[in-house]
Order: sequence, then C-alpha cells, then structure tokens
Amino acid sequence: MKRIIIVLAIASTLSAFAQKPKTTTEKQKMDAFISNLMSKMTVDEKIGQLNLVTGGEATTGAAVSTGVESKIAKGNVGGIFSLTTPQKIRKAQEIAMRSRLKIPLIFGQDVIHGYKTTFPIPLALAASWDLPMIEKTARVAATEATADGLNWTFSPMVDLARDPRWGRVAEGSGEDPYLGAEIAKVMVKGYQGNDLKAVNTMMACVKHLALYGAAEAGRDYNTTDMSFDRMYNEYLPPYKAAIDAGAGSVMVSFNDINGVPATANKWLLTDLLRKEWGFKGFVASDYTGVSELIAHGLGDLKTVSGLALKAGTDMDMVSEGFLTTLKQNLNEGKVTIAQINMACRLILEAKYKLGLFDDPFKYCNDERAAKEILSQENLKFAREAATKTFVLLKNDQQTLPLQRKGTIALVGPLANTASNMPGTWSVNADMSKVPTLLQGLKEVAGNNVKITYALGSNLIGDPNQQIWGTAHGRDIPRDNRPESEIIAEAVKVAEKADVVVAALGEASEMSGESSSRTDIGIPDTQRRLLAALLQTGKPVVLVLFAGRPMTLTWEQQNVPAILNVWFGGVEAAKAIGDVLFGDVNPSGKITMTFPQNVGQIPLYYAHKNTGRPLGDRKWFTRFWSNYLDVSNDPLYPFGYGLSYTTFTYGDIKISSNNLKPGQKIKLTTTVTNSGKYAGEEVVQLYVRDLVGTSTRPVKELKGFQKISLQPGETKTVTFEIGEEMLRFYNSQLKYVSEAGDFKAFIGTNSRDVKEVDFKLVK
Ligand code: BGC
Repeated sequence: MKRIIIVLAIASTLSAFAQKPKTTTEKQKMDAFISNLMSKMTVDEKIGQLNLVTGGEATTGAAVSTGVESKIAKGNVGGIFSLTTPQKIRKAQEIAMRSRLKIPLIFGQDVIHGYKTTFPIPLALAASWDLPMIEKTARVAATEATADGLNWTFSPMVDLARDPRWGRVAEGSGEDPYLGAEIAKVMVKGYQGNDLKAVNTMMACVKHLALYGAAEAGRDYNTTDMSFDRMYNEYLPPYKAAIDAGAGSVMVSFNDINGVPATANKWLLTDLLRKEWGFKGFVASDYTGVSELIAHGLGDLKTVSGLALKAGTDMDMVSEGFLTTLKQNLNEGKVTIAQINMACRLILEAKYKLGLFDDPFKYCNDERAAKEILSQENLKFAREAATKTFVLLKNDQQTLPLQRKGTIALVGPLANTASNMPGTWSVNADMSKVPTLLQGLKEVAGNNVKITYALGSNLIGDPNQQIWGTAHGRDIPRDNRPESEIIAEAVKVAEKADVVVAALGEASEMSGESSSRTDIGIPDTQRRLLAALLQTGKPVVLVLFAGRPMTLTWEQQNVPAILNVWFGGVEAAKAIGDVLFGDVNPSGKITMTFPQNVGQIPLYYAHKNTGRPLGDRKWFTRFWSNYLDVSNDPLYPFGYGLSYTTFTYGDIKISSNNLKPGQKIKLTTTVTNSGKYAGEEVVQLYVRDLVGTSTRPVKELKGFQKISLQPGETKTVTFEIGEEMLRFYNSQLKYVSEAGDFKAFIGTNSRDVKEVDFKLVK
C-alpha cells in the first residue's frame, strides 16, 4: 500500500508539469481528481486506458479491433478512433458510462484537411503560404468534427519530406523546416483554440514522431537513418513547434531511427520529447505500431509491448499488446507500476482537459451538427481556400485565363469523377455532394460557353495499377475499348473546340499512405492522350491533379499552360473554374521542389554547397558536383508559382550591414504589379551563413509575406533580421549563432532573388 502511495505521489509530482494549467488551483483540482480516480482503479483498468481500438471504418492495416463493445464494458478501452457516425460514438460512450468506473472514452479520427467540409490536401494548403487561412481550415474542421462527437484529431502531420516518391508528402507541408514549423503551430492553434474544454475545440495529435518523411527511397514505412545535424536543424523543428504550440498528444512513427524503431525508442520519446522538449501530453503509437516491433526484430508481443511502454509510448493503437501482456510484464518485473500509472494518468489528464468527466456526451450535438456541418459559410470558405492553393506552373502567351465564350473541350480520366476531387484522407467527405470538374466548370462558366467532354484515356494503362491507385472507393470506371479508340474519340471532341482543358495526373489514392511511386510522371496512357491533344493544334491547358511534386519535364516543354490543382477538397471543381476563368488569380507557390527526373531525388533548395559546387559553371563540368545526363536544376524551384499578372522586384535596401545580438537590421524592397490583373504575391526571405563551424545550407527560408497588389500598384515590403534567426544546432547540438559573413535574399521563389551582404558582429 505504502509503495502505491509513493508511486502515486511521484506520478502526481511529475504530472505537476502537465500542460499549461490556467491557474495552480485548476491544475491541483485536476491532479486531485485523477489521483482519486486512479486510487480506485485496478491494474487491469489502468491498462485498459492505454488501449486504443478502431471502430473498423477507414482502417489502414491488416488488423482490426474485435469485440469492442464488451471490452468497453469491462473497462478495457481508453479510446476509439474511426467511428464515423455520431450515433455510433454516442452508443460507445453509453457503454463506457455503464462500466464500473464510468471513465469516458476519447474519440479520435483522421480529420486531416477538414471534416465534411473537406479542404485541399495539406501539401496544397501549404502552397497557399496563408497562415491565417490554414489556421481557419483547422478551426472549421474542429467545429464540424466536434459537433459529430469527435474530440481528438490525428493531425497535424508535420513530417518534413524531400522525396516525392513517398505518397505521404500529400499529408504534410513539404520540404522546409521553417514553413513546416509555422504551419504546425497554426494547425494546433486552429484545432485546440484557447480552451480545450470548449465544445468546438479538439485535441491535436502531432505526427509522426519522427523522421517518417525520410523513409529510404520514398518507400512507405521504410527505414530512416540520419545524422543529428540534419535531424535537429531540418527534420525536428516542425514537431517541436507543434509541441511548443501546446499539442495535447503525439503519434509515434512506424519507421526505425538509426536502428531503433520509434515506438520503442527511449531516446526519442523520453530523452528528446519529454526531457529536452518538455512535452506534457500523451503519446500514442501509430496503427499496430507496437506489434510491428515484432517484424522490426525486437522480440515477441510481450517483449515489444514492455519495450514500447518503457520507451514512452502511452497508448497502443490497435495492437492490443498493452492490453494482453502488460500485466504479465508487470508481474515479471519487466515494467513497473509507475510506468503504467504514468501512461494512464497522462491519458486521463487528456480526458479531463477536454471536459469529458464533466459531460461525456458534450461533443455529440445534433443541433450544432445540423447547423454547422457543411454550412454555406464553410463551403464558401472551402472554395476560396482551394483557389489559393493552386499553382500556375506555366502560362505561355496568356493561354489562361479562359474566356467565357466558344467551346471548351474537357478531356481526361479526372474530368468527370467526384470521388477523386477531395484527396487522400477525406474519409468524411460526402461524395454525393461533391461536384465533378465537368459539373463545376459548367456551373462557373455560365451560359455563353459550351463545354464538351470525353474520357480520353484510362487512368493507367495497366488495369491492376489502376485498381491499386483507386482504392477506398475512389473509383474511376475503366473503359475497356482499345486505347487508340478512346483517344481518337477525345481528339474528335478537341478538334471541334476552341480550347482543350486536359484533366490529368494522379487519382486521389495515388498519393497518401501506402502510395509510393518510383515513376512520378503523368501515367503512360494519359501522357499519350496529352500528346494526341497537342497534335490537334488547339491550345491545351493541363489541369494537373497531384498529391506530390510530379516530373513534368516533357509537359513543361510541350504544353502551353499548366495549372497544378492538387486535390482541392469538396469545392475543388468550382474553385478550379474560378481560377481557369480568371475570377481568381492564382497565387500558390510550391513548397516542395519539382525535379526534372526521379534520379535527382532528393532534390531540395536548402542543400549544402559541397567542396565542389557546380555554381555558375556550365553543366556538364567534369570534376564538379553534377550529373552527366541531367543538370542540377530543378524543373520548378521551391517557392515557385506564376500569376496571371507579373511582379517586379526592386533592389534590397539594408538598414545596416552589421548586425549585433539584441539588435535588428531591416531589409526593404519594393514589389510592383507590372501586369494587367490584380494579384497576390508571396515575397520570400532567405539567408545564407557563409562561414561557420559546420556546413550550412546555400539558402534557408527565414520569412515571407503575402501581399496583394492592384495593377500598377507598388508596395514596400520590409523584413527584419535578428541574431536569433541565424542560430542553428552546431556539431555539439548547441543552438548558437556564429559571427561572420551572411547573405540575405528576397524574391519571388528560392531561385529568382535579389541579394545583399551583411555581417553578424559579436
Ligand atoms: C497512419 C496514421 C493514421 C492512423 C489512424 C495509420 O496507418 O499512419 O497517420 O493517423 O493510421 O488512422
């Protein structure tokens, strides 16, 4: 008994650091409540809290949870995810309320880019560079999801990614640590608001800790092996930013890190996350992450469950390794009751902070659901948001915007599919309400334009690959006629039109989880269709659907206009119409480099210089760092995106060339809208540390501003640089700045910049 009291006392002292209490009294109240509750709990009930089961809908692995209702009744479940209706959620909570201690369940889901009002995929949202807008998408998602009973979202996904073969790049913000961290913060703020107890906020779960985006060869779930320099300076900042912003929970990644799988990685989950970063929330494994440790080679289920708990995994998603083996581990002395208590306490604290002990049903609110989910206001916002994510990659001779007259031939396997519009992880989108591009374009075009349509090609020549690429009901019916016949039909339609809009690229499930690709070009049969359409001599606009940067070298050479529309959420079709017809001027800029070919990968702007940089030398130059068969240049650099108008940058004025710690220098430039359309521009600031004790990237994003300009208008844009912005983790992993020479760059993308020199003087 004495031992238990001491353990509880330790647990409660440790949790005294728990997530920012508003007042000491509130914190003390929570601790006392949980201590009291835990004093009544059996070991089995405590272990039950660590068990996270799936409702069985939207599963992402071979295993599914079984016997869920009886487990809840016995106190063997702490939370459920992927229950997709409020009725089912209510029912599960009712069962929990009939269990011995009536501990409420927490309800999770992958609310990744909106709930029923689905917004563009995260990679697209990042391309807007519009932080308030991104925050609002998370706010709206939380408002809708909580009305349906959910209170925990498995978002934001902040895995930095520099390999577009990895399908999950669609779920994150791209390649940059600074932008990734800024987005991570606003997402957490959007979901959690200022008050987790409010009925319309939900707990964020930052994922996937860590380095999942560095999976070798872009193959999902693959190994990662990385230097600490790269980790601390590049891959870790977005996770840390989300945690500093108060994210209530963390999801562990599937991959191993330098030889130890994340789920059993004590350095990661305890030394870094808890001790170094001071994280106070709870840690959940990913889907069967605990039992996958067996395949990683760490032992049997009992062994790996003990390892995972000891490393710092508090909640076991789907494996039921904790549920079925922790007691035995305890009896054998492999884990301690203090470790079980701590995990249990952290999960109960989360429920407490959400207010579930006050009212376990507060999140199921039919009235609020009817009013707020898919409201006109939310749909309007979704449409506006989508228009801001599209990236104009090419626009020769002002092919775009389209005029509202004549005949437009809409062609391609992505032209008339609703289910492929919202994008991966849109489990809540109601496809019956999602317009296809054909429907959306007709609506936006009005009566003066005739829109004709032809399928033009299948999605992929190989029928099997088409099935794999259209999983989860995101079907594109296959046309079994010979390819030549399907193309010929489309060519006929194109010949009778004034302009051709080719809706091509990836289907929604060709990116996302378990959708890695080695060829990231437009699939074979679609490319042949595109060539045939170009042969007609009609102007062709490529409307590119993509969940990742694609290789578009041939398209860049041959197609006059390319608008990358990613997957734009439930209002994507109308939003595409808004941009094609020029009602909205595109302003998106890519946040991942588009390579010329797959062999260049990983290709990212913030690379190191090497000892033999090609620099301004001509490609190919022997004995310098370059390839024989392709230049080092990307096809489109990070930060790139065109507009229907043009922006002209003035030279940079600098307030002083010497920066001292504690002071700031100001960099000022002018941006002029030198074209005919009003437009928005993302003005980007980069810095280079020229001399230091470690090698430093040739450019690092340090700031950006999104401005809007009327035709002819000029705006002055000012950035400040302070010493703290120049810090980095040195070889001793100390966060320092080093005196010496720097360059600052301002421009429209990471390549096209003006520059100025300055010194950090200490
Ligand atoms: C994914 C997570 C997701 C989880 C629950 C896993 O397969 O990696 O991102 O949150 O499933 O659906």
